[in-house]
Amino acid sequence: MSQAQNVKLPDLSHYWVPFTANRQFKTMPRLFKAAKGNYYTSMDDRQILDGTAGLWCVPAGHGREAIATAVGKQLLTLDYAPAFQTSHPLAFEAASRLADYMPAGLDRIFFTNSGSESADTALKIALAYHRVCGNPLRNKLIGRERGYHGVNFGGISVGGIAGNRKAFGNALSGVDHIRHPLDIATNAFTKGVPEDGGIALANEFEQRIMTLHDPSTIAALIVEPMQGSAGVIVPPAGYLKRLREICTKHGILLIFDEVITGFGRLGTKWGADYFDVIPDIITCAKGLSNGVVPMGAVAVKREIYDAFMQKSPQGAIELLHGYTYSAIPIACAAAIATLDIFAVEKLEDRAAGLSDYFEQATHSLKGLPMVKDIRNIGLVAGTEFEAKAGAFAFAVYLKCYELGLHVRYTGDIIAISPPLTIEKHEIDRIFNTLADAIKYVASQGEAGLNPNNYLKNEQQWALHQQATI
Ligand SMILES: Cc1ncc(COP(=O)(O)O)c(C=O)c1O
Repeated sequence: MSQAQNVKLPDLSHYWVPFTANRQFKTMPRLFKAAKGNYYTSMDDRQILDGTAGLWCVPAGHGREAIATAVGKQLLTLDYAPAFQTSHPLAFEAASRLADYMPAGLDRIFFTNSGSESADTALKIALAYHRVCGNPLRNKLIGRERGYHGVNFGGISVGGIAGNRKAFGNALSGVDHIRHPLDIATNAFTKGVPEDGGIALANEFEQRIMTLHDPSTIAALIVEPMQGSAGVIVPPAGYLKRLREICTKHGILLIFDEVITGFGRLGTKWGADYFDVIPDIITCAKGLSNGVVPMGAVAVKREIYDAFMQKSPQGAIELLHGYTYSAIPIACAAAIATLDIFAVEKLEDRAAGLSDYFEQATHSLKGLPMVKDIRNIGLVAGTEFEAKAGAFAFAVYLKCYELGLHVRYTGDIIAISPPLTIEKHEIDRIFNTLADAIKYVASQGEAGLNPNNYLKNEQQWALHQQATI
């Protein structure tokens, strides 16, 4: 009996897997049963190199004992304290620690449970801020094409990924979008930040969107410093700085969604540091707890917090917003332990030190069949394929999994964002495996696009499972 036949799959019928083609997945499930360091262990005991730090959320690598111990200890000390009207010391400690990690001035922290909640919280804070300051008509929100700010209604409204919006009605009103900065025709295969076009593109915000809406009606502009989910879109030089200038000039709050770019991903603590642009509000999640406990946060400039404190009626709740699990003790314990690891291991510096090597390795894919563009910054890389409605990228993803590498596919793009603990030989392995997968899928022609041609191991498990029911 082969090893694969010994694997007992769980009953797959009840769980509705998010952002996944469930019918396809359940015919060839990809299940991890353990993780340590930069590797997952699959159900048939294969070591799968984690090329994506989970879902961009495990910067310090898997199975960190200090985090596990802190969480376990906290569970047995104080499992839960009501998040409204009472709190607990670790919430304040986690906020202070995160404030220290933020760019100077962004030192008032609101805790959430995810990146989506952080985005919606930031938008609500922006609207409420203008209202508390006596400007209730400043209530429009501007996002960006191809932006991703999670899946809640605020986030999908300002977000610009059409597929994530179209099934869900009209979402928020009073929202518009600026153009995304991807320009493959001019910048294909740029290493790092594209040089040209940034200022003109940012100026469009002032010239086009503001003319349309009147700047005095716009509450906030929300952008990711580097657009991750829509396919690793690196902004051109000067673009974010110019957006900052325009927002400042017109009294518009600038929100950076740093759910992906925070915690060292670009080789700096924040995208704000990388691009040397300080927004008014930063949202984060993912790496904040190294992915082990759901946690997000919104950091606001002190003036924003102070406005709520000074201008709200005496005794009033200044912001009618919050979650049952805002700053739950185990999330705070995980965040503090994660920030300790960052402080000791200087993971941002580690990422910065590896970024040139990573860039070379990424761009070694240039010239392979179907490869249309390669983009990179810090320890993030995106490889875009000639359009095949995602089928080619999905097949490459499946082939990589079969070959022992986990990558992320979105649309016609494969994204790589390994834990910041990645080693050079593992970077080699990531891009060699990806190259093999691309060559394999391309060589198969149309047959290569058929998902059923992959993951033989998992198919065996599924068959075994059916046979034993
Ligand atoms: C920039 C950005 N914002 C928000 C989110 C949503 O985070 P979550 O899935 O934790 O809700 C993500 C997730 O990838 C993201 O990349």
